[in-house]
Amino acid sequence: MELWTFTTLALVAVVVFLFFQLVWSKGYQARLPPGPTPLPILGNMLQLDSKNILTILHKLSEKYGPVYTIYMGPKRVIMLHGYEAVKEALVDQGDKFLHREPLQIFNAIFKGNGILSINGEKWKQIRRFSLMTLKDFGMGKRTIEERVQEEAQCLVEKLQNTNAQAFDPTFILSCAPCNVICSILFNHRFDYDDEKFLHLMGMLNENFRLLNTPWIQLYNLYPSLIKHLPGSHRTVHKNVLQVRGFLMDQVKKHEETLDPKNPRDYIDCFLIKMQQEKMNPQSEFSYEELLSTASNLFAAGTETTASTLRFGLLLLMKHPDVQAKVHEEIDRVLGSSRRPSMQDRVKMPYVDAVVHEIQRYISLLPFSLPRSAPQDINFRDYVIPKGTIVFPFFHSILHDRKAFPNPHQFDPENFLDKSGNFQKNDYFTPFSMGKRLCLGEGLARMELFLYLVTILQSFTLKPLVDPKELDITPVMTGILSVPPVYKLSFLPR
Ligand code: HEM
Repeated sequence: MELWTFTTLALVAVVVFLFFQLVWSKGYQARLPPGPTPLPILGNMLQLDSKNILTILHKLSEKYGPVYTIYMGPKRVIMLHGYEAVKEALVDQGDKFLHREPLQIFNAIFKGNGILSINGEKWKQIRRFSLMTLKDFGMGKRTIEERVQEEAQCLVEKLQNTNAQAFDPTFILSCAPCNVICSILFNHRFDYDDEKFLHLMGMLNENFRLLNTPWIQLYNLYPSLIKHLPGSHRTVHKNVLQVRGFLMDQVKKHEETLDPKNPRDYIDCFLIKMQQEKMNPQSEFSYEELLSTASNLFAAGTETTASTLRFGLLLLMKHPDVQAKVHEEIDRVLGSSRRPSMQDRVKMPYVDAVVHEIQRYISLLPFSLPRSAPQDINFRDYVIPKGTIVFPFFHSILHDRKAFPNPHQFDPENFLDKSGNFQKNDYFTPFSMGKRLCLGEGLARMELFLYLVTILQSFTLKPLVDPKELDITPVMTGILSVPPVYKLSFLPR
């Protein structure tokens, strides 16, 4: 064949290939949910200003509807906006949307292990095991409620020692939830001055703050590029490795003293399960999984509850009328010395409403945690292609006017009926929905109620400035809304 004939044929082949690719991708594109036109490589990043991200996403839903497509860099993301779309995906078609998209920043260390990231049969088994163990299945004599009550008393003692001096409560408020997780994982609680404990919490706190910075979000988009550069992703990795190393020591100690008939905690239960399954080559229970899931529980169970408490105290100072009503209800139901228990919650509808309103108002994880499509998913009139990331935008539910008349105002009345009884609301979804909702919901709700009641039974919260000047705006909003740093005094009542 002559050269020019060959060249012509090759050109025709290329043109035909490109033509078919274009037609195919247009057809494919046509069934994607609508959305703003992306730029090559950058996607819609220039439109998604991280300081106003919640408002921008709200405006996009007004233009494109409750299901729309955006591109975060090269990654295609489907946003689900509002109660109906999120419920339809996560509950009505829940099995199709179960798949977790792991955060790349942690993937480098956990390598696809750990309950937050795993999928399929492994996730089912680890989740079932963890839920049962957290519900006190074979875990010593003390219930989780007793552990939380004891921790609440330790917290109050520590606050009494501040002698009403103003200070930043970040660390103290992290100590209590962190100790409860330590007690569940390895049956140990630390003194609030323990150097090692403070160091661990410092690392968790730093990681949660860094997780929301633009640099780490960039890492999540372009991990193979950014990992070679200097930057704060190295700090995150170093911190995760240290927490993991600490847990590894705990696992070793547990192995040396394990009594299969008397499991003391989560690590013991996991080690026993590993022994039971050691002849099963398909077993999902391995050292790697234990270390990764324990690290996940440690992180997920500390900073979430601690940040909610930090926002909560700030909101109660900003709204002294609400704080006064909380005091009044506590005095009436508990008096000044009786220790609160979960049974008291039904008798304290106002406090219950306040705890709900704090969580609604702050919408701590505005997008929950990312999911992805393990294969093409037909959803409404669209196709969500395999590999697409899915963000259920929970902030849009928690701040929906249909359910909360003034969504951007802090108002416990949102959860009370006309007679002052507690009133449930389906739109209260800070822990997500469906089969993959927060594993620690029960624990977190118990902790928030018991810590807030125990603190307010003993103290009045006093800000350094006029309440009207207190700024509640999160300092960062990414995966998590990060509360501003502030100081306050705990005045004994
Ligand atoms: C105020 C406190 C908390 C909030 C607002 C919160 C919220 C959430 C949310 C929104 C998710 C994502 C669920 C989804 O993908 O649909 C989640 C997952 C998770 N949470 Fe929480 N959480 C809190 C406290 C806790 C605590 C105390 C623990 C400790 C046990 C915990 C453990 C987990 C775990 C392990 C997952 C992953 C579940 C899975 O993928 O199967 N969380 N949480």
